[in-house]
Amino acid sequence: MPYKIALYPGDGIGPEVVAEAVKVIDACNIDVHYTTFNWNTTLYNKTGKCAPENYLELLSSFDAILLGALGNTHNAPDHIAVEPLLTIRKAFDQYVNIRPAMLFPGVESPLKNKKPYDIDMIVIRENTEGEYTALGGRHYIGTPDEVAMQINYFSRKGTERIIRYAFETARNRKRKTLTSITKSNALKYSMVFWDTVFYEVAKDYPDVIASSMLVDAAAMNMVRCPEQFDVVVASNLFGDILTDLAAIVVGGMGFAASGNINPTRKYPSMFEPVHGSAPDIAGKGVANPVAAILSGALMLEFLGEHDAAQKIKSAVVNHLNDGTVKTPDRGGNATTADVGTDIAQRIQ
Ligand code: NAD
Ligand code: IPM
Ligand code: MN
Repeated sequence: MPYKIALYPGDGIGPEVVAEAVKVIDACNIDVHYTTFNWNTTLYNKTGKCAPENYLELLSSFDAILLGALGNTHNAPDHIAVEPLLTIRKAFDQYVNIRPAMLFPGVESPLKNKKPYDIDMIVIRENTEGEYTALGGRHYIGTPDEVAMQINYFSRKGTERIIRYAFETARNRKRKTLTSITKSNALKYSMVFWDTVFYEVAKDYPDVIASSMLVDAAAMNMVRCPEQFDVVVASNLFGDILTDLAAIVVGGMGFAASGNINPTRKYPSMFEPVHGSAPDIAGKGVANPVAAILSGALMLEFLGEHDAAQKIKSAVVNHLNDGTVKTPDRGGNATTADVGTDIAQRIQ
C-alpha cells in the first residue's frame, strides 16, 4: 500500500518549496500517493475563510501532511490565513513540534568562528496550548476603555506530556542535556507551574542533565553560545520565537525543518518548514527549499522509512558541502528548482 500524503502547499513560497520536497522524496523510490489541496488566501474573497469547511475531515484519512506555508496579507488578514494551521495542530493533537537546528558543513553561520556541527540542537515546542489558546476577548471595541485579553492555558496533562517527550528525546542523544525555557520570575502561575512539572518529571530521568533557563537569557545564550544547547523544551510561543533565532544562527530560515507530531498516531502528523510564505521573495523561484526537503525527511522518518530519510539527509549534506548550487540567501544565483534537482540527483 502506498503512503497517502496530503500536500498543502499554501501561499507565497510554500508551493515553490513543496514541489522540491516532492521531487526529492520521489527520487527515493518509495511508494507514495499524493493528494494536493490548493487551500490558501485566494479562497478568502469568496468564503471569508482560507480552507473549506470540511478540511479537517478531508485531511484526517492521510498518513501525513506536508505543508508549505500560509499567509498573504494582500489577500487575507494573517490571523485568518494561519487559522487552519493552528487548528490542525490542535484538532489532530499534534502536541509535539520538533524543530532541529544544526549547522551543516558548507553553510555559514552569522556568528563568528562556528564550525560544522558546533551547533546541534533540537527544540521541542509545545504545540497545542500555552499562549496559543483561543481564550479571551475584546471589549468596548474602538472606545478609550477598550480591553483585549488573551488567556494562557497550561494543563497538567499538556505540560507533562511535552516535557516527558523532551526527556525521552534527550535520553537518546549523546549529550543527554535538556534545557527547559521558562519565565517563572514574572509569570508566577503558568511558568512556576511549568517549572514544577519539569522537576517532577526530571526525577524519572536521572541520566539526563536537566536545567531551566529564563527565556530572555535563552535568547541571549542562543547567540552568545548556541553550542551549549542540546535538547530544549519550551512553551508554544517561546518555542516559536526561539526557533526563528535557532534557524538564523545555523544559516537562515531556508534550513529549518519541523514536524508537528501526534505521537499516538491516532491522527496524521504534519511536516513543514519553520519559515513562512516569505512574501518578499515569493514568485521569483529563489526560495531555499532545503527546509522543506528536510521536513520531507522528517516525515519519512516518522513513517518508518529510515533508509530514505537518511538518504535525503546525506544528499542535503553533500549538496551543501559542495556549494556550487546556491540560492541567493546563500550568496548564489541558483533557483529553487536547481537546488531541488541537485539534491534529488545526489540520492542513491
Ligand atoms: P518568513 O519566514 O516568511 O520570512 C522571514 C524572512 O526569511 C524573509 O526575509 C524571507 O524572505 C526569508 N525566508 C524565509 N524562508 C526562506 C527560504 N526558504 N529561503 C530564503 N529566504 C527565506 O516570515 P514573515 O515574513 O514573518 O512571515 C511572512 C508570512 O508567513 C506571514 O503571513 C506569516 O504569518 C506567515 N508565516 C507562516 C508560517 C507557516 O505557515 N508555518 C510560518 C511563519 C510565518
Ligand atoms: C510557525 C509559525 C506559526 C506559529 C504562525 C504562522 C501561526 O510562526 O509555525 O512557527 O506561530 O506557530
Ligand atoms: Mn514561527
